[in-house]
Amino acid sequence: MDMDDALLPPLAAAAVLLALAAALRLLLVRRGAARARLPPGSTGLPLIGETLRLIAAYKTANPEPFIDERVARHGSGVFTTHVFGERTVFSADPAFNRLLLAAEGRAVDCSYPSSIATLLGARSLLLTRGPAHKRLHSLTLTRLGRPASPPLLAHIDRLVLATMDDWRRDAAAAPPVRLLDEAKKITFNLTVKQLVSIDPGPWTETVRREYVKLIDGFFSIPFPFAYLLPFTTYGQALKARKKVAGALREVIRKRMDETAAESGGAKKGAADQEEKKDMVQELLEAEGGSFSVEEMVDFCLSLLVAGYETTSVLMTLAVKFLTETPAALAQLKEEHDNIRDIKGKSQPLEWSDYKSMPFTQCVINETLRVANLISGVFRRANTDIHFKDYVIPKGCKIFGSFRAVHLNPEHYENARTFDPWRWQSKNKLQNAVGASLFTPFGGGPRLCPGYELARVVVSVFLHHLVTRFSWEEAEEDRLVFFPTTRTLKGYPIYLRRRPAAEDSSAF
Ligand code: HEM
Repeated sequence: MDMDDALLPPLAAAAVLLALAAALRLLLVRRGAARARLPPGSTGLPLIGETLRLIAAYKTANPEPFIDERVARHGSGVFTTHVFGERTVFSADPAFNRLLLAAEGRAVDCSYPSSIATLLGARSLLLTRGPAHKRLHSLTLTRLGRPASPPLLAHIDRLVLATMDDWRRDAAAAPPVRLLDEAKKITFNLTVKQLVSIDPGPWTETVRREYVKLIDGFFSIPFPFAYLLPFTTYGQALKARKKVAGALREVIRKRMDETAAESGGAKKGAADQEEKKDMVQELLEAEGGSFSVEEMVDFCLSLLVAGYETTSVLMTLAVKFLTETPAALAQLKEEHDNIRDIKGKSQPLEWSDYKSMPFTQCVINETLRVANLISGVFRRANTDIHFKDYVIPKGCKIFGSFRAVHLNPEHYENARTFDPWRWQSKNKLQNAVGASLFTPFGGGPRLCPGYELARVVVSVFLHHLVTRFSWEEAEEDRLVFFPTTRTLKGYPIYLRRRPAAEDSSAF
């Protein structure tokens, strides 16, 4: 071996080492750069991250500082934190929220914890993705987006009046009414009617009792193996889900048999067909009748769940905010008394009446803005997402906060104040929706299909409430935001019939 040969192994080894060091450096620089490009933030304590801080904030009367402080600290409307076991990018930026909502099904997908997915059912609209989601979503919009249809409006009118009819008339001796409970009855019965055309009665009451346990499960701790722990709230919810699904399955099977009999010759009259043109009928006829019973059950259940808490809390909070803002209540009363003056006392509301309630729509918009019934949406990145100077890596969890935008004083003057008049200025609503400054119903491919229905229900409810009753709070109640936005006591009120409404034949 000569000298050169002897030097070769150490030189080669040194070269390999140098190359490795360079590669490692490059890797570290790259990782550092990637980390630097992630939106700024802190991931808090190991494992629990900032979860406890988030929950603590939402348990107070003013949860805003959780987001506000981080936005101020990092100088960015998009920041990184670590909540519910995962690194999560939070957005308080309307431009990013718009991107997030529009990118659904492509750069991002909606993301629910598995405990919630189990309660919803695998074929629920909220979990379906891709072309199947597109088809189901448009089917739902077709059905729910027609609240103008005369039978539906007449039914909402009847249902609201029937619920109010149950309120005791002898105000002096009457116990307070928990408004949230009453609103929930209306919402549940209305959705059942739309899904399967069943009027309130023993069947709806039995299903409702189980359904309430199912709903509780969404806001409980899902212990592992909960199905073996039927005494826990989540375990009870799993049991209740089976019962509700069973009741729906029975109705759907019966309807399938009827449809089969009809196609075998026993045709029904046009009026009957129209009466049964409910969600199940829509599903039975859709896509050449290819939906399975289980698909229809999951679908119906997801509609029952999605509109229940939201619409009933919206009704309750609209009344609470109006009570606390007497000038707004007086203006609303005037709007509805005018409608009654023209219609007479017991004529059912029609679409043209609904269209002549501009101030009511301002009240509803403002309640949605201040209350933030859905405070934002969770998504997961399907690909690296570039926004401003940041990269949100594929697989990362993202939360687009609507609440942070709706309550930001940069976007709304006196943002924390209930001020329905702010919506009176021309094009305010269109502009705010267009700029993603007002997204109570989300947007993009998962835009809430119940957005118009919810408005109609609340408008009809407010109409009958203010034209027939006056009320006062039975005890002080306050807003809570965890696990959902609602009032702590369900808003108990003493109701008194308005003298002008005494002789109404609707009661
Ligand atoms: C005040 C009332 C309501 C509010 C604030 C509300 C809000 C929302 C929001 C923000 C979303 C989007 C979720 C996301 O993007 O991940 C949504 C979706 C949905 N909403 Fe509503 N909603 C209300 C009433 C209703 C009603 C009355 C129904 C039906 C009876 C309904 C059915 C649905 C369904 C099925 C979805 C899922 C759509 C999909 O994933 O394609 N909602 N809602």
